[in-house]
Amino acid sequence: MFDTLGLIWMSWWCMTLFHPLHADLQRIERICSAETEESPITNLTWNWRRMELSWESSKNFPSYTCMMTSGDRRRRKKVENRKCWFSMENSLPLQGGISFTIEVPNTNISKHCRFIPEGKKGSAIENFSCVIYDVSLMNCTWQAGRNAPGDTQYFLYWKNSRDDNETECELYIKGENGMHTGCRFQNVMIEEKTTYFLVDGISSDSQIQFYDEYIELCEIERLTPPLNVSVNCTVNPAGCTITWQKPRASYEKPEHCFTYEINIQNKGEHDKDKKDPPVIVNTNKYEFENYNVKKKYILKIRARGNSCTINKSWGEWSKPIEFGENEDYFLVVLLLLIVLGTILVTLLLFFLCKRYCSFKRVFPPIPQPRDKFNTSHDENIQTENMFPSSLSCTKEVTMVEEMT
Ligand SMILES: *[C@@H]1O[C@H](CO)[C@@H](O)[C@H](O)[C@H]1NC(C)=O
Ligand SMILES: *[C@@H]1O[C@H](CO)[C@@H](O)[C@H](O)[C@H]1NC(C)=O
Ligand SMILES: *[C@@H]1O[C@H](CO)[C@@H](O)[C@H](O)[C@H]1NC(C)=O
Ligand SMILES: *[C@@H]1O[C@H](CO)[C@@H](O)[C@H](O)[C@H]1NC(C)=O
Ligand SMILES: *[C@@H]1O[C@H](CO)[C@@H](O)[C@H](O)[C@H]1NC(C)=O
Ligand SMILES: *[C@@H]1O[C@H](CO)[C@@H](O)[C@H](O)[C@H]1NC(C)=O
Ligand SMILES: *[C@@H]1O[C@H](CO)[C@@H](O)[C@H](O)[C@H]1NC(C)=O
Ligand SMILES: *[C@@H]1O[C@H](CO)[C@@H](O)[C@H](O)[C@H]1NC(C)=O
Repeated sequence: MFDTLGLIWMSWWCMTLFHPLHADLQRIERICSAETEESPITNLTWNWRRMELSWESSKNFPSYTCMMTSGDRRRRKKVENRKCWFSMENSLPLQGGISFTIEVPNTNISKHCRFIPEGKKGSAIENFSCVIYDVSLMNCTWQAGRNAPGDTQYFLYWKNSRDDNETECELYIKGENGMHTGCRFQNVMIEEKTTYFLVDGISSDSQIQFYDEYIELCEIERLTPPLNVSVNCTVNPAGCTITWQKPRASYEKPEHCFTYEINIQNKGEHDKDKKDPPVIVNTNKYEFENYNVKKKYILKIRARGNSCTINKSWGEWSKPIEFGENEDYFLVVLLLLIVLGTILVTLLLFFLCKRYCSFKRVFPPIPQPRDKFNTSHDENIQTENMFPSSLSCTKEVTMVEEMT
């Protein structure tokens, strides 16, 4: 038992110690290990740290064209030395395999190489996605590859520019067995940045394939709700002016960058019953003209970008705001009147009773068996008086009830 635990701990310690960071992102990779075609261009290498392709050439050519092809995406660049790199905005991820081609312009000389990441097939993470929320927080999440061994651990690295060194995730989201399934980032600066993400893995069982991706941060931002939403209604003419301010952002964006959706519902009516098309505006003000003074409404607003590199998906709804009157108001007033009436009647009864009838008369004492030897005169008198007195009290009650 202890041995097993010790072993697990040891292997965990080893895995942590031999973190793949410097094994992977700092290494220089030979792309075409098996040189088959006869070509003056040889020794293609990929430098992970500099994100740069380089090659050798047996002849000196004035220029080269290098190409990166992944599926139907292709990047092309002309260079005058034997090095080639693409900007963060223009590069392509290497995961899943990529082709590099070097051509010498105006000749039929070229070199074509395919790079396929090493490691067990299906061991790379899947469903990688990131979202920026609350202006500067970001979550990236993924799922373990379906063929990844049980002891696989993943690590995330990212960089904002080609010249930066990569940074490892500081706050992992952990799944079962402590496996990293995501990363939380704080103080994310969106601006117009493309960020490179790489998730690598290690396992004692087999080599794990990496996954990498370039993401434009502004495209994954989920906008916060519009600010200071307020409604000002007038009865005559009936109508409401709704105003609000643009959502919070990590850096200043002009008003014209946003589009808003205004959702006004009758309280008690469901979304499904609503057939009106959504109200979309590009301003910070909306005049609600179908205002019915007797109805109560619920208002919410959300924003999306329409330009300025703001995500064009809808952001979060603002907190619902209620405005207007409805039947509930009259119901409340009615209930209040009834309660007040009941209290008044009870009070009136109480004082009338106090004045015209004694407590004893209303609630007659339980007749006691008569004492054969000591008959009281008082009791006889009381019994005789009781019935008429209580009658008069009841009469008054009926009278009061007619009044209400
Ligand atoms: C190509 O790479 C091989 C092995 O790394 C090396 O021996 C050779 O010198 C390189 N060729 C050139 C032209 O640099
Ligand atoms: C390249 O073109 C030359 C003539 O321009 C031809 O002699 C040579 O065979 C061609 N090489 C290949 C590999 O097609
Ligand atoms: C990734 O997402 C798809 C679609 O939601 C799902 O079918 C698939 O199982 C997910 N992959 C993993 C490894 O969970
Ligand atoms: C981000 O991750 C944290 C921790 O798992 C979670 O509590 C939070 O709901 C996530 N937020 C979003 C917007 O996904
Ligand atoms: C990046 O890392 C290398 C090697 O660890 C170091 O020499 C270099 O100074 C670092 N560069 C930056 C910009 O931090
Ligand atoms: C907006 O962000 C979502 C993820 O939150 C993303 O799926 C979508 O593609 C983005 N939309 C645009 C237009 O970039
Ligand atoms: C929005 O309202 C808050 C108080 O509710 C106020 O402090 C803030 O200045 C308002 N924003 C603008 C842009 O007027
Ligand atoms: C509401 O609108 C009226 C007329 O348009 C204006 O006089 C009043 O000050 C507004 N009230 C608020 C709270 O903005």
